[in-house]
Amino acid sequence: MFQFLVEKIWNSQRWSVLALGMTISRIDLNDSTSIPQFGLGVWQVPQDETERVVSEAFELGYRHVDTAQMYGNEAGVGAAIKSSGLARDEIYVTTKLNNNRHEKQIAKDSLRESLDKLGLDKVDLFLIHWPLPTQYDGDFVSTWQTLAELRDEGLTTSIGVSNFQPDHLDRIVAETGVVPAVNQIEAHPYFANDAARAATAKHGAKVEAWSPLGQGGGELSDPVVKEVARRVGKSEAQVLLRWAIDRGDIVFPKSTHKERLAANLDIFDFELTADDVSAIAALDKGEAGRQGPNPDTFDWIPD
Ligand code: A2P
Repeated sequence: MFQFLVEKIWNSQRWSVLALGMTISRIDLNDSTSIPQFGLGVWQVPQDETERVVSEAFELGYRHVDTAQMYGNEAGVGAAIKSSGLARDEIYVTTKLNNNRHEKQIAKDSLRESLDKLGLDKVDLFLIHWPLPTQYDGDFVSTWQTLAELRDEGLTTSIGVSNFQPDHLDRIVAETGVVPAVNQIEAHPYFANDAARAATAKHGAKVEAWSPLGQGGGELSDPVVKEVARRVGKSEAQVLLRWAIDRGDIVFPKSTHKERLAANLDIFDFELTADDVSAIAALDKGEAGRQGPNPDTFDWIPD
């Protein structure tokens, strides 16, 4: 009966059911698909720990995993998927094109390599990881066209970008007519990244917020966040995640600790007031709050 209910609700495409009895809403994308709004990010999860971490997340009810070729741990994600026994349509898997693989044939081969490591026939979402506007003669448009071809070839259901600035988004849409389903950008209270958020929304794409916990940094000990956490009886991390969810962002915090994986998921049994939401939003430091590289200048190409 329970299994029947799970399948029925899953098939409705609106909700996924969690082991803890909670629900994670799905966000509709502009290509008639949907994505679980919450998941697990595996940036900085060592390859030899990835299978354990992803398996623990699946046990807790996570059903969305965000990895990348650059993270070097797709095989660990694949091993966890295989041992989970979960049906393919129960999980949502994203990977991203590495910075050294932007040329057409290399990019195409790289997705096949990723699929091999992940043990999948297709991913749900494939992203250009960084625009690299100062590399490849500034031509991220051809790379975007390649992703569209990969989607047409059936190797990924959806395509999107990551770390794209407003002018990068404008350019790929104007020159190809293909709109990304998502733009995965750095966004947390100290770095609102409003211009990129607005441009993403303008194109009808959804924001995926990377580092919603500010990479475990200052926001977790910010007095404003601490006060909200004290009042609602949750941890600072839970408040930050709920704040991002309430803005409509897709989030996938990383943790290698099972108790934190569980806590990060346990964010749907409390509410933030409008005052809480605006007090946390007021923590924005603009560019000074950015933790990762600036996409306009980031040019790192791995060997
Ligand atoms: P760890 O893996 O040791 O748990 P982000 O997703 O913003 O990049 O943040 C990830 C960072 O936040 C990691 O350093 C992670 O460390 C830490 N982290 C994840 N969940 C929690 C939590 N519930 N409380 C405190 N720190 C956390």
